Amino acid sequence: MSKLKWWQTAVFYQIYPRSFADGNGDGIGDFKGITEKLDYLKDLGIDALWLSPHFPSPNWDCGYDISDYTNVAPEYGTLDDFKVFLSESHERGIRVILDLVLNHTSDEHPWFLESKSSRDNPKADWYVWADTPPNNWQSCFDGDAWTYVPERGQYYYHYFMKQQPDLNWRNPEVKKAMWDAVRFWLDLGVDGYRLDAIGTIFEDPNLTPHTVPMNLAELRRASELAQTPAMKKKIEKYWYDMFKNQWGGPGLHDLMKELRAIIDEYDGDRMLVGEDDNIAYMGNGNDELHLVFNFPLMRTDRITPAHIRRNQKERLSQLEALPFKGWPCNTLGNHDSSRIYTRYGDKQHDAGLARLHAALVLTLKGTPFLYNGEEIGMTDYMLTDISQVKDTMGSWYYHAIVTEMGVHPDEAMQRTAAMTRDKNRTPMQWSDNPNAGFAPANVKTWLPVNPNYADGINVKDQHNNPNSLLNYYKHLLRVRKHTPALIEGEYIPLNNTARDYFAFLRVTGEQTVLVVLNFSTKQLELNFSRTKEFKERKLHVLFSSAGRANTIQGPKGLRIGAFEVYIAEVK
Ligand code: NOJ
Repeated sequence: MSKLKWWQTAVFYQIYPRSFADGNGDGIGDFKGITEKLDYLKDLGIDALWLSPHFPSPNWDCGYDISDYTNVAPEYGTLDDFKVFLSESHERGIRVILDLVLNHTSDEHPWFLESKSSRDNPKADWYVWADTPPNNWQSCFDGDAWTYVPERGQYYYHYFMKQQPDLNWRNPEVKKAMWDAVRFWLDLGVDGYRLDAIGTIFEDPNLTPHTVPMNLAELRRASELAQTPAMKKKIEKYWYDMFKNQWGGPGLHDLMKELRAIIDEYDGDRMLVGEDDNIAYMGNGNDELHLVFNFPLMRTDRITPAHIRRNQKERLSQLEALPFKGWPCNTLGNHDSSRIYTRYGDKQHDAGLARLHAALVLTLKGTPFLYNGEEIGMTDYMLTDISQVKDTMGSWYYHAIVTEMGVHPDEAMQRTAAMTRDKNRTPMQWSDNPNAGFAPANVKTWLPVNPNYADGINVKDQHNNPNSLLNYYKHLLRVRKHTPALIEGEYIPLNNTARDYFAFLRVTGEQTVLVVLNFSTKQLELNFSRTKEFKERKLHVLFSSAGRANTIQGPKGLRIGAFEVYIAEVK
């Protein structure tokens, strides 16, 4: 393949360590478990892993509240277990990137414990302190963004939970300490980082208050109750207005440049992908991030041909306009969002839609990111009792609406189950054994296992079934790997007004590939004979979810079945 870098050609797979594989039978995922599953991942056909945080943490935010940046959470194993995992991954040609949480630490991190102990300790200025709350800013997880500490008689700022104090990135000592941690893992050989919530690192220096006439819990509740489009629009604006001053403050480009310079000291094309959709963070193409996510593709209730076209037109033209032509990065799901199968399903054609969505992410131009479990069609699992909730933003909301707003506990629980991210973080379903083969039968897993593992939503059953979603993913990943145009080809949309299907070409100097995704229940009859790329050429089918691969057809009278995924080389 041409001159593309590994992170442009790779398919990434996100592992949520707590839920992926439990190697020691305590109901919590760990490195032993992940390492045992590397052959599964190799066989699936992915090329790189993104590991959600694996560091010691009190777990108020499931590992995104880190209390030691250069170690492994004891429940996940030891540093030696990590090293084994890393070398076994590399041995199989699988790269590994880690999660890098820069904005905040845990409130149990020794840096914060020292910082909060007095106003004049050596780390007194490592976090963001104020004598009185300087404004009405909210934490996006749990109410007021300023929390009082009696030892200092002062308040500290936290964009996320109060257990996640924001670091003061204007302090050079903070940078030095964090860059040392970054180097620690690079020295061990990791291939890069996914950068958590970078937009929140710097705030509006004027500390401008927000103007929304509600607090966080009230706004969340208002979102749930909004019925009319006008109301929904107003609420959406409130969300934006509530947090806009806490995002994107000056300084981030310089910080990303410093981080990139460190990354570039290392060999092997280490990479950075930002949890942000702002392409400005790609800098000049060589001095900031390698990738940012195309989150706008996910920001919809239904994935429709019109939505995809609009998204691609906007996103690709923005990236193309950059002097260095930025590389896209597509995903439809992660540990923060409702599972693809549930979120974009219609409850009638979910199986067909899941195949279309997988094909979309794997055939659009750009680096795809998959989320563990999507390959077997894992669905959201709604918790039924508040004692089960592990995602603290969920339990905080439950208590806020029950105690402050008088919402009935039953309704509050339903709302909580729907808003908490626990629903999309349940243990991976490996088999139809009790506990889905994730943990031994008699063990209480950290989150309940979704009982639908017994109905075929598990790796073992799907491995044995040639028509399963799992085998569909494997097949598609293989076709992608062997079809250069699907990796490096330019994107050319076709038949731009079609409402039922999304058709496009991926084109290199050597190869032209047609992709048709039929999002409708109708059989289509398409005619590409007047499209210039098809002149005098035939369609050699590379992949079809309707089983017509390896056939040759003309560009006229092309029949595409309901929900069919059709990929053909034009030659
Ligand atoms: C984004 C992460 O993806 C999310 O899970 C986490 O809660 C916040 N950042 C805070 O670190």
